[in-house]
Amino acid sequence: MDSIDDLQARLGKGGYICDRALATVTFLALKLGRPLFLEGEAGTGKTEIAKAIAAMLGRRLIRLQCYEGLDASTAVYEWNFAAQMIAIRSGDSKADVFSDEYLIARPLLEAMLPQEGGAPVLLIDEIDRTDAPFEAFLLEALSDFQVTIPERGPVTAPQPPIVILTSNRTREVHDALKRRCLYHWVGYPDFDREMEILHARAPEAAKELSQEVVAFVQRLRGEDLFKKPGVAETIDWAKCLLALDVLSLSPEVIADTLGAVLKYQDDIQKLQGSAAKKILDDARAAISA
Ligand SMILES: Nc1ncnc2c1ncn2[C@@H]1O[C@H](COP(=O)(O)OP(=O)(O)OP(=O)(O)O)[C@@H](O)[C@H]1O
Ligand SMILES: [Mg+2]
Repeated sequence: MDSIDDLQARLGKGGYICDRALATVTFLALKLGRPLFLEGEAGTGKTEIAKAIAAMLGRRLIRLQCYEGLDASTAVYEWNFAAQMIAIRSGDSKADVFSDEYLIARPLLEAMLPQEGGAPVLLIDEIDRTDAPFEAFLLEALSDFQVTIPERGPVTAPQPPIVILTSNRTREVHDALKRRCLYHWVGYPDFDREMEILHARAPEAAKELSQEVVAFVQRLRGEDLFKKPGVAETIDWAKCLLALDVLSLSPEVIADTLGAVLKYQDDIQKLQGSAAKKILDDARAAISA
């Protein structure tokens, strides 16, 4: 990968469509070996880019899905207590219960171990769901690409993994962690890019229907909704319409399939009556303009 254009083209070939800004920050993260911190709305391709990069480079993807209560020990490794107990009970005095045999590597340790084909892509997904102590721990692990197993000592990555962190910004992530990373806000794509994404992900959808779907969803995002639809919803909706052999949107079709796009009853209710028709008319006018 010699340039930003080259990276953008290669990701595109793999079905991931990114704009110039995202391609630039990704290029720099890879070139400088810095973690990439992606924040943005739901369903805008944050998780997907880690998969796309791993596929492009032929590297293994290791995913640490964050959640409330995730602690350092579960993220790094666990001992297989049951097997250790059995070894001890059997009275085998030569058994080393802290050997590999009893070690269960979790994503962070896994990412520090040598891999065939080069350093893996480590996806730390939805970091905003964890808490400050875990962030502090992560900061340390990412600063020297090393984790410590008290019974065995430190494990250092032979080659630093490619690290991608994502957040939905349900809370602010600590500055110290952000400082380590290159940062990018992943917003909703514009009409042309969303058309490209839809074409990459649902190539069977005809252009006319795709245009209506994308234009409609783009307008929906401007409405006062509790949860705005992401790109994932655009793709889902197009696939639903295809499954129903719909060739073109109508207020009736929209009412019947809106559950693919909006996931809250209050939001769906807002689109009942004349609202959907008005948005559809606007969308059509914009397409023909
Ligand atoms: N730029 C893109 N190129 C290709 N596909 C995309 C792109 N953005 C989103 N998608 C599609 O949308 C789906 C959802 O994307 P993804 O899961 O990466 O969103 P996310 O930003 O991680 O959302 P969340 O914050 O909810 O986890 C993907 O499976 C992919 O099919
Ligand atoms: Mg995600």
